[in-house]
This record gives sequence, structure tokens and C-alpha cells, in this order.
Amino acid sequence: MSEPRKIIIDTDPGQDDAAAIMLALGSPELDILGITTVAGNVPLARTSCNARIILEFCSRTDVKVYAGADRPIARPLVTAEHVHGKTGLDGPELHEPQMPLEARHAVDFIIETLRREPAGTVTLCTLGPLTNIATALEKAPDIAGRVRELVMMGGGFFEGGNITPAAEFNIYVDPEAAAAVFKSGIPIVMMPLDVTHKVLTLKSRVASLREIGSRPAKALVEMLDFFERFDVEKYGSDGGPLHDPTVIAYLLKPELFSGRDCNVEIETTSPLTVGMTVVDWWQVTGRKHNARVMKDVDADGFFALLAERVGRL
Ligand code: BDR
Ligand code: CA
Repeated sequence: MSEPRKIIIDTDPGQDDAAAIMLALGSPELDILGITTVAGNVPLARTSCNARIILEFCSRTDVKVYAGADRPIARPLVTAEHVHGKTGLDGPELHEPQMPLEARHAVDFIIETLRREPAGTVTLCTLGPLTNIATALEKAPDIAGRVRELVMMGGGFFEGGNITPAAEFNIYVDPEAAAAVFKSGIPIVMMPLDVTHKVLTLKSRVASLREIGSRPAKALVEMLDFFERFDVEKYGSDGGPLHDPTVIAYLLKPELFSGRDCNVEIETTSPLTVGMTVVDWWQVTGRKHNARVMKDVDADGFFALLAERVGRL
């Protein structure tokens, strides 16, 4: 096997963030340099606690957690307890994490890691609002040229939004941060709702996760059982969309996804559509491509990968 790919996971766990972290932990192709937390689904104190609980469920306290921004760059924080429950990780019984948070701020960890590692070797995996990444870019613009790729869960185009009719949650919470990231020149791969709404936690698909029976797998299944309730009611679908693990699945098996290079701009001013990702899918503007935007996914292949990797934990 070639050298494992170095990644930093920037996250606001969240049950689907937990699935993404577990997928990464179960994958020897990936070397997790650190997990950085951000305020999003729930406030920062809770996302930082949840990241450590997930690592402890998986007995992987060797992976370090760095707390980052506790609020968006220019707006008050919007959270999503209505989706994820009071803790953000509702479902399994949750314990107080024993492993410590690192003393270093997430933004400094991101900057120092990108400056230390050879240029073009570190991939950023973002599963929440982009506040930490935009703050790092503001503080140390030189890091933009050192990132191998940034793979994000965020946005939506034909599928519209999920927190407003126009905006997806991660982009909506910190649109100024998203705008800075899309302007940065970093090679971006975007997993929008157009993809994630196709990876529904159908009973038949979760069955193989249920069969595993290990501590992390049980915790994940209990999280997913809680998580799908809200979306099943909202969309009338059989199962909820498993957004964030698509980012990690893309690193492992890009052939599960298809999309195209596009220009993406972020709406930051209109009260009606703030946080909208304006994706030039039909290439009508002539504006410069700044992201590879995914649209389709082999959902069964994705769930098979998830179950196989969680089974290794
Ligand atoms: C995104 O928002 C959060 O609620 C999920 O964790 C995911 O990252 C989906 O819009
Ligand atoms: Ca998330």
C-alpha cells in the first residue's frame, strides 16, 4: 500500500460527523493528523466533547482534538439541536470524555501542520461551518498554496437548501467563511445536498452496520436511529441523509461519486438567500472554476464501504 493520505478533520459532531470520523478511523489509507472542532450543530464546548466521546467509543485516544472557533466570523451562531438533539450526538448513552482537549487552538494547529508537512500533502476534510479554515487563511494566507485538497460537506444546488429554502446548514452558519474558502484558490471538492440526499439510511442499508455489534458500531447505529427521525418526518423518506461521511468516502473510493468542475459563489448579503451556493453547473457565466462539485453517488456502494470500515474498528 502507498503512504497513507494525511488528513485533518474539521468537524461539529453531530451524528453524521461521528459516522464520518468512524469511517476515517477504520481506514488504513488515511492518517488522521488531528481533529479540529468548530461551533455548528451545537456550541463549541459540546462539539469538542463529542469529538472525544467518538474517539473513546473507538478506543482511539491517540488522535488529538483541538478546539477552534466558538462562533462564525461575522454573525451570531445558529445551531441545529432540532435535528441532532440537545447534545448533538443524541442516541446512545453518552459518557464524560476522559481524554483531554489539546491546549493549542485549532486554527494554530491547522496553520502549523500545513507549514510543517511538505506542501501538497495535507488534505482538509470539513464537515461543519468553515470558520476555522477561513480564520486560518486570514491569519496565514501562505497555507492556501500548501493544501493538497479541501473536501467539504456543504451547499446544494438543484436540491436547494435544508436550513432555508436556499441554503445548506454548514454554509448558512458562516457564509463569510465559506466565501473566503471558495476564493482561496485551494482545490475544493464539494459534497452538496444533491449527493447527500441520495445516501439515505434505509433499513436494508443500516442492517449490515447493525450486525457488527461492536461498541463503536452499536453507538453509531443508536445515533443513526435517532438522527433519521427528524428527516424521515421532514422529507417523508425511508431513512435520513448521511451527509458528512461522503467526504471521507470520496477520499477512499472517488469512483463512487460523479460531478464536474464549476464556479461556485456564496451569497452573503441577501436576507432571502444568504448562505446559498450559486453553482454554475451549466457553465453559463464564464466565471473561473473553483470547485469540483459532486452530484451523483453509488449509495449502496457507499454504505457497503461504511459497514466494512466500521467493522474494522
Ligand atoms: C450538515 O449540517 C449538519 O447538520 C450535518 O452534520 C452536516 O454537516 C448538513 O446540512
Ligand atoms: Ca457536520
